[in-house]
Amino acid sequence: MFDLSAILVQVSYSLCEVFGLDPNEVDPSITVDGFEIPDPSTLTDPVAQQYAAFLRAAVPPIDPYYQFRKDLVRDIRYWWLTGEGDVLLLWGPTGSGKTSVFEQWCARLGIPLFMAKGHRRFEPMEAFGQFVGGENGTTPWVDGPVTLAARYGLPCIINEYDRIAADRTIVFNDVFEGRSFPIPGKSGEVVTPQPGFRVAITANTNLVEDLSGNYGTANTHDISILERIVALHVGYPSDDTEAKLLEKELEQFSDDLLSYWFDQEGIKISTPQGMKEGSAINRGEFIQGLLEVAKKIRAQSKDGGNTSDSALERTMSTRILRKWARHSVAQASAPEKLGLSALHLALKKYLSSLSTESTRIALHQAVENVFGVGEVVKP
Ligand SMILES: Nc1ncnc2c1ncn2[C@@H]1O[C@H](COP(=O)(O)OP(=O)(O)OP(=O)(O)O)[C@@H](O)[C@H]1O
Ligand SMILES: [Mg+2]
Repeated sequence: MFDLSAILVQVSYSLCEVFGLDPNEVDPSITVDGFEIPDPSTLTDPVAQQYAAFLRAAVPPIDPYYQFRKDLVRDIRYWWLTGEGDVLLLWGPTGSGKTSVFEQWCARLGIPLFMAKGHRRFEPMEAFGQFVGGENGTTPWVDGPVTLAARYGLPCIINEYDRIAADRTIVFNDVFEGRSFPIPGKSGEVVTPQPGFRVAITANTNLVEDLSGNYGTANTHDISILERIVALHVGYPSDDTEAKLLEKELEQFSDDLLSYWFDQEGIKISTPQGMKEGSAINRGEFIQGLLEVAKKIRAQSKDGGNTSDSALERTMSTRILRKWARHSVAQASAPEKLGLSALHLALKKYLSSLSTESTRIALHQAVENVFGVGEVVKP
């Protein structure tokens, strides 16, 4: 194969700089290796240009709003440095940041990442590749994400791994063992993973049981797979982390717009300085209110570990929290123009319309309890 060392150029990054961590908490001299892939237009060899273009396109785009968590970064780095051969399982409730933390790890370090997604009828070709119809009746072979990652010595991620029917995951045994593996469907061709090949998988369960009862399509997996796994639980981020990511999410909106909307919407919240209303509320207090709603909803949800019969089947994931915050403010004119609360309108669009009736009522009640506004804004 083509010598990739001039394309996957290794560079050392300061851990705290590249992941935006606090230098008082993380020693700035700690580094982690990543790549810098040259711009294809700066290369002369056309083959090198092709590889550079392909690999650059495989680096996930950076989410500038992403808020890294020190503990997760430390655990991922530990696996990255020591765990070659172990499969990393990131597991936890929906929208907590499992897929994105590894994607953003690769994005910031300039590392190409190959991805597959699990589902019940998962076929080996989705991971390993297949013959596809080409020009003039030819059927060229196209490598799948796991094969590509193994050939290049790069990471791959298999999302929703626990959705794959357990008897369909056997094809991964050799791969997870770090051994050379035959490519299913390619008449015995064997791939020897290059150094740097790593597999991460994500799942809502720990592959053994689904305590929430919320992930009915998750499957219990073979014990032999479990022996090859290093598991990291990814719960929802701490208040501190979520406050920071909401601050970034709302950066695009001016203080004036927020004050106007708080007045029109008639928001009332309890702060450490007592009750505040409308434009007397500041950005930080509003964000604390959003987090308070998220906390109330999570405590009532199955995902958050509530096992009562009335537990909510939906929750306020970090994913939805970001969208709810942004789209509430983006509809700041709703109270004045429509007489409707923007907080409730956005919640409906992104969460409560896709829930049972009893959950819908509980979700809107949580907003009303914290912000003192109902769906209809009183004139
Ligand atoms: N630390 C974070 N900083 C900023 N945004 C975050 C963070 N964690 C999660 N998010 C937001 O939540 C979204 C969902 O995260 P992600 O896709 O990683 O969830 P997941 O845990 O893989 O969920 P699922 O179980 O549904 O696959 C991200 O696209 C991002 O918008
Ligand atoms: Mg995911």
